[in-house]
Amino acid sequence: MDRILIRGGTPLNGSIQISGAKNAALPLLAAGLLCEGQYNLSNVPQLADITSMVDLLTQHGCIISVDGNNIGINSDNITNTTAPYDLVRRMRASILVLGPLIARFGVARVSLPGGCAIGTRPVDVHIKGLQKLGAQIELSEGYINASAPNGLVGATISMPMVSVTATENLLMAATLAKGETVLINAAREPEIIDLANCLKGMGAIIEGAGTDRIIIQGVEKLNGTSHSVIADRIETATYAIGAIITQGELTLTHTDLSLIPTVSEALARAGAIIKETPNGFSIKANSGIITGVDVITEPYPGFATDIQAQMMALMTLCTGASMITETIFENRFMHVPELARMGANITVHGSSALVRGVSQLSGAEVMATDLRASVSLVLAGLAAKGDTVLSRVYHLDRGYEKLEQKLTQCGAHIERYKVAAEA
Ligand code: EPZ
Repeated sequence: MDRILIRGGTPLNGSIQISGAKNAALPLLAAGLLCEGQYNLSNVPQLADITSMVDLLTQHGCIISVDGNNIGINSDNITNTTAPYDLVRRMRASILVLGPLIARFGVARVSLPGGCAIGTRPVDVHIKGLQKLGAQIELSEGYINASAPNGLVGATISMPMVSVTATENLLMAATLAKGETVLINAAREPEIIDLANCLKGMGAIIEGAGTDRIIIQGVEKLNGTSHSVIADRIETATYAIGAIITQGELTLTHTDLSLIPTVSEALARAGAIIKETPNGFSIKANSGIITGVDVITEPYPGFATDIQAQMMALMTLCTGASMITETIFENRFMHVPELARMGANITVHGSSALVRGVSQLSGAEVMATDLRASVSLVLAGLAAKGDTVLSRVYHLDRGYEKLEQKLTQCGAHIERYKVAAEA
């Protein structure tokens, strides 16, 4: 097991290259099941979750080549349309193979992903949407058994809530359905736009990606294409917060300020000075003052739930107070007790956390509980006085490519070391 030691107190100064988005790459990889011929992805981040998806596609019979940040996929000889529990439970986004499998092969047996630390994470919107497209679906023994022997048929699907991966699953399935599909109340995340752009490169006919109404005209087949993964907006916001919490200045490259509209507005209100650059932006603290700002997480373009924990870390050092309300997931405050171990003053009432600013955090031993909570503890450790030791860092490895290297090159004292198996 690995741990990470962070010696706090050094401002982050320098430039960080943002990687491709994990949450774009995962559906883009699953889309490889839809097309015939060679399909090539570039700017794919090297992360544990990506490896999990590659393993899943490989067991379906895809021929996959991985060369650094480039992944080639050929799904012309699929041998198996079952996504087994032991792979799906490792990475919930494995559910994204369901739509492509049923659309292209007319059959799929995908394990229910189960919940995770941040919530029960049901997939009812995925299932009901596929049933609207004509799939016969039966849940048994923990699996989603889906069949559409005569293919899927386009339909108008009004989704009861905004769901990113349900939108992605249904978008992919609809590309090969007969006729027109309209997705109403679709998610509007940039990763949806990126997926739609790639699918159009394969020959799909899609309008409205990035809005809450997406219209798809089904086609007979899709052909492999080449596509570069969009920049990771969550990583972008994470390092932007890192600049402010350490009172430093960072230039973030290979990204775009427009990917984080509400988050950047909140950071500006907190006192950050942000300047756009030709391929990203620079951000720095404003004379050491972090102003408390209130945050409510919402679907894009609202404040991203995946940035809530990182923002909370920043707000622990604000002048005044900040009310942070989590509206997307039912249990996404697990970083609160860990931040409290570092001296933060946070009171949780239901889905809201009142953060009263303190003058300083102190390093401590803390435990990562989920992907985004873990990086909020890294940010807090970078700002704290003294040493912070973070355990269960496998959570970090799911979503942040080369985290230690990127931070070390900007002056952080951060190192990973191995310990015997943890309790
Ligand atoms: C995606 O998860 C992201 N994962 C999550 O990022 C992100 O937090 C989330 O969207 C919200 O932005 C990927 O893209 C791989 P949802 P997803 O369906 O699609 C409920 C990270 O840290 N819901 O948009 O699973 C659900 O319980 C991860 O990178 C249903 O009730 O999230 C939640 O309350 C964490 N039924 C809300 O909708 C469904 O069928 C939004 O979830 C689907 C969702």
